[in-house]
Amino acid sequence: MAVGGPFMASRLTGWASAARPLLAGEVPSYWGGTLLFDPRPKEDPRDLFDREEELKALRSGINYPVTLLLGLRRSGKSSIVKVLMRQEDALWVYLDMRKFEGRAYITYRDLVQELEGAINSWPERLRQAFRGLRGVRLAGVEVRLSWGPGDRAEISDVLERLSEVAEEEGRRPVVVFDESQELRRLKGYDLLYPIAYAYDNLRVRFIFTGSEVGMVYRFLRLNDPGSPLYGRAVTEINVGPFSRGLSLEFLRRGFEEVGMKVPEAEVEEAYDSLGGIPGWLTYYGFYYMQLRDHREALNKTISTGVELVRQEFRGFLVGREAARERYYTIMEACREGCTWSDVKRALEAREGARVDDKQVTLLIRNLVDASFLTREGDLYRPADVLIRRAFQRQGGSETTHSLRI
Ligand SMILES: Nc1ncnc2c1ncn2[C@@H]1O[C@H](COP(=O)(O)OP(=O)(O)OP(=O)(O)O)[C@@H](O)[C@H]1O
Ligand SMILES: [Mg+2]
Repeated sequence: MAVGGPFMASRLTGWASAARPLLAGEVPSYWGGTLLFDPRPKEDPRDLFDREEELKALRSGINYPVTLLLGLRRSGKSSIVKVLMRQEDALWVYLDMRKFEGRAYITYRDLVQELEGAINSWPERLRQAFRGLRGVRLAGVEVRLSWGPGDRAEISDVLERLSEVAEEEGRRPVVVFDESQELRRLKGYDLLYPIAYAYDNLRVRFIFTGSEVGMVYRFLRLNDPGSPLYGRAVTEINVGPFSRGLSLEFLRRGFEEVGMKVPEAEVEEAYDSLGGIPGWLTYYGFYYMQLRDHREALNKTISTGVELVRQEFRGFLVGREAARERYYTIMEACREGCTWSDVKRALEAREGARVDDKQVTLLIRNLVDASFLTREGDLYRPADVLIRRAFQRQGGSETTHSLRI
């Protein structure tokens, strides 16, 4: 491996200054440019590798009221949405639900404050348009949405006003709920009513992204006759991992961009160990730039990734504490693929008692809906390579139980 000329070397210095392992949401201090191996979601169309199809589908999706952008964690959903936000001159309201992950519940106040932040990112002229709405006041140039009882801002009023402002501006209003599965934890408020109202009466478009595919469906209740959204048509776009060919090209291009010559065998080994999830490939490239060593970069990507997966799994267990041991048992039993009967056997062996069939089905379904397991025919498997590793035995008789913090 060789590092390019003085310019490239100086670009790398900023990256190397990130002193501790990088986890999701953390950003290294860096002089400002973006690179393929930048671990933040991409926003500039020039930084997005491939994904033309998905962008095209999303662009056409926002001609209709509701689009779902679904894919495993770190597959690049936020990047695709943010790039489209740069490309399309719509009136965007971007709501990041990711920050509520792992919380037992979300309140109306959380939701309203997120909405308030999105509106305040607009130019002042547009913010002024919310003046006079119930529960809305302007503090200086900042819009404040009230959430307390009696005088709270109603989401449907805000959507209606958004629709009007957009119409006056000749722009399309698009509301993005990023990681929308978190919304199912919204307590004491049914967001589906204002969404259904907007669907039927307003020009507002919605994009719901989700890495927990089944959970997005559970939240929207599209197939539930009792749901306000029942029977409404939605556009569904799936963001898959990169193919082997695209993954290798992604890595080559990323290294080329920073003037590093990396042996083909290393790039291939990285794909073979990490799979085609763009987020893992990005971390590997990022760590390689920091550490200048393939083996160390790969190990660090794996250990960081495994820790992230475990953290996400702990988030999944919030509110499911009673079945915690069962979920771990299933993930361990399914590391290399398992059938429903394998799961039942593993649970019964562990508990030394019969486990109800319905329970087995429900537990598996929750793991599939949360995208920890995927189903291929009769087989259930970890949804990606690092999920499998996160539930790997630690050698000898020791199991991941020792890691269950
Ligand atoms: N097509 C792409 N081109 C370049 N980088 C990408 C691409 N897709 C994803 N990445 C990178 O992979 C990482 C994960 O991407 P992103 O955050 O957009 O995914 P996500 O699906 O929204 O993930 P999460 O489930 O964690 O919210 C980021 O570092 C991002 O920069
Ligand atoms: Mg995201």
